[in-house]
Amino acid sequence: MGNFVWSGCDVTELANRFGTPLYVMSEDEITSRIRTIKACFDDRYERCSTYFASKSFLTRDMLRILMREGTGLDVVSGGELYLARAMDFPPDMIMFHGNSKTASEIGDGLDYHVGCFVCDSVEEMLLIDRMAGLRSVSANILLRVTPGVEGHTHKYIATAGFGSKFGIPLEMVNDAVSIGMKLGNASLRGFHFHVGSQFMDNSCHIASLEIVLGLISRVYGELGFVTSTLDMGGGFGVAYVDSEQPQPVDSFICPMTELVERFCSDLGIPRPSLVTEPGRFIVGPAGITLYTAGSVKDVPGAGTYVGVDGGYPDNPRTALYGAKYDALVANKYGDGPLKRTTIVGKCCESGDILIRDINLPEIARGDIIAVKCTGAYNYSMSSNYNKNPIPAVVMIKDGQPRLSVRRQSYEDMFSADI
Ligand code: LLP
Repeated sequence: MGNFVWSGCDVTELANRFGTPLYVMSEDEITSRIRTIKACFDDRYERCSTYFASKSFLTRDMLRILMREGTGLDVVSGGELYLARAMDFPPDMIMFHGNSKTASEIGDGLDYHVGCFVCDSVEEMLLIDRMAGLRSVSANILLRVTPGVEGHTHKYIATAGFGSKFGIPLEMVNDAVSIGMKLGNASLRGFHFHVGSQFMDNSCHIASLEIVLGLISRVYGELGFVTSTLDMGGGFGVAYVDSEQPQPVDSFICPMTELVERFCSDLGIPRPSLVTEPGRFIVGPAGITLYTAGSVKDVPGAGTYVGVDGGYPDNPRTALYGAKYDALVANKYGDGPLKRTTIVGKCCESGDILIRDINLPEIARGDIIAVKCTGAYNYSMSSNYNKNPIPAVVMIKDGQPRLSVRRQSYEDMFSADI
């Protein structure tokens, strides 16, 4: 019937112009999602700020958007910090996360005077304090705590259960705070928790927050420690397929903020400033990936396989988490009749299946397939497996596409190989 238009662009034309596989991001959608969160958090309550989880999608253009919107940045590595620094991202708006920061990464963070380090252990807190002392600088610290709430999400992206590799178990927090209160160069400002990623409802967030608030009141009563910052993590889910119906983001954030306010005023505890650090919510639905169909074959008992020119290297999420996606044929949008089809990637892995059993118009070699909701953790988790170059990223604003990250060439791919 026609060509699929997304964010004001005919994506078949984008595929012809920029090649495939191609990550296409909508700046308009990213901006609107940032503003949605700000409207229900930063702008609605006092001393609340949003830090974008850069692990979900990090490019220079993304940093430009965040700076324009006045959004903070969560980094977890020297590499993420490097780009932020190269773009003069305001250091006081950077939160340095990571459960196993190297000394060199900590040094980079201190040298750039990042606003805050989120410490995953007492050992790391002491190292930051020592390294800050050697540099004669100060550092703000939050302790990541593990609320012990099992997340209703894929086990690989649940982070707050008992025995998690992330954070400090509740029973060890008092000791950690006592140590933190005596540091000479770093100042302990409060706590961080993150329940995990891709949650459909707020129950785990609220349960974890209640536990952490209990902890805040305990260390206040027992140690006189005043929590000045509480970082409540990210994890707000998005719909990859129609059957997923995540709660709107404000029904995660508003009850959490209101709970903190009520709790603190009931107990006469000073209310901490609040942080949230979404990644997927901001960029997930703001991206699609375009592929060109290659080999099409019918396999008795299995159905029709359509091979595309990408797969696992640009989207490892299906193999890692069994992630589900929706797709359409961009140059046959609305065409019929539909045929049950399985879209497979080009890697030498049986698990490299992008979408199993989806109803699509009959596909032939050369057709353009658009997979939806690929803006989060796809580009950022891409690899060169089977020596496939990393696709280009195109950013669309006001219906105008621009090349945001150029396609890796074969030369780029081998450029570090001596
Ligand atoms: N804060 C912390 C400490 C995190 O570890 C994460 C994500 C976030 C915030 C952002 O979470 P979000 O709002 O995006 O759910 N590769 C996986 C996701 C891993 C999430 C890692 N941490 C995936 O593709 O589903």
